[in-house]
Amino acid sequence: MTEYKKFENGFEYIEVSNKSARAKIALQGAHLFHYECVGKKPLLWLSETSFFKAGKAIRGGVPICWPWFGEHKTDSSLPQHGFARNFLWELLEVNETNEYSTEVRLQLKSSAESLQLWSYRFELLLRVTVAQTLTIALTTKNCDKKAFEITSALHSYFAVANIDNVYVEGLDTTTYFDALTKENKMQRGNLYISKEVDRIYQKVHNPLTLHDQDRTVHICAEGSSSVVVWNPWIDKCATMSDMKDDAYKTMLCIETANALDDARMLTPDEEHTLTAIIS
Ligand code: BG6
Repeated sequence: MTEYKKFENGFEYIEVSNKSARAKIALQGAHLFHYECVGKKPLLWLSETSFFKAGKAIRGGVPICWPWFGEHKTDSSLPQHGFARNFLWELLEVNETNEYSTEVRLQLKSSAESLQLWSYRFELLLRVTVAQTLTIALTTKNCDKKAFEITSALHSYFAVANIDNVYVEGLDTTTYFDALTKENKMQRGNLYISKEVDRIYQKVHNPLTLHDQDRTVHICAEGSSSVVVWNPWIDKCATMSDMKDDAYKTMLCIETANALDDARMLTPDEEHTLTAIIS
């Protein structure tokens, strides 16, 4: 079943449910902000104080960072993480494949508004498969006459019972750029979170496993060899207006990305798909 819904302020989303799972996707940003398998706890973290406002990214779920990840390379006045998460997308189709699986397709095309921020013509397609396994696939098509380079991320916020008991497996001996110290370092063993973490892991070719208190989440990627791990921890969390002070305890971002050396250059008509498969 698919229902079209609105918050009181007019912020639109669709709610999809089938025999496997239930999901909510906002039209702004094609932003998946809720995902729950039948009989299980929500997979994605959503801030209790998130804004659901036009032009403001939702804090939680899976924001789409595109066509650049993080700060713009040369102009810091441009929006952090690009503009795709703040623009209104078009809902193309909801395909109820069978009782257990639904595919939602949303599209964003270049417009006068996007060309002011980024001077290339493009088509973006997001396919979300709501099933026992969650699949999120973002396809970029270059519709311009010039080549362009993109960095991007499926900025997934995972809900965890308690960050103190969480670890991520699959990054051992991987090098990462530490965005806090601006140094390149190497991961040794599993990743535990006991302070602010903001890292871009490079050349990641293995699936990752998030071990939480009473569940494990597997994250596989296609079209990606970089992973961002982010937790703002105490001080940063306290400065964020759309996160409660203790919110850092119940979330961890593990973002399937195309960042740093994993940027993708697309020639005219070329396509690239970044996919996260989460189970
Ligand atoms: C992460 C970045 O992906 O997103 C962090 O690595 C950033 O540096 C975080 O703070 C949140 O970004 P924003 O723009 O949603 O507040």
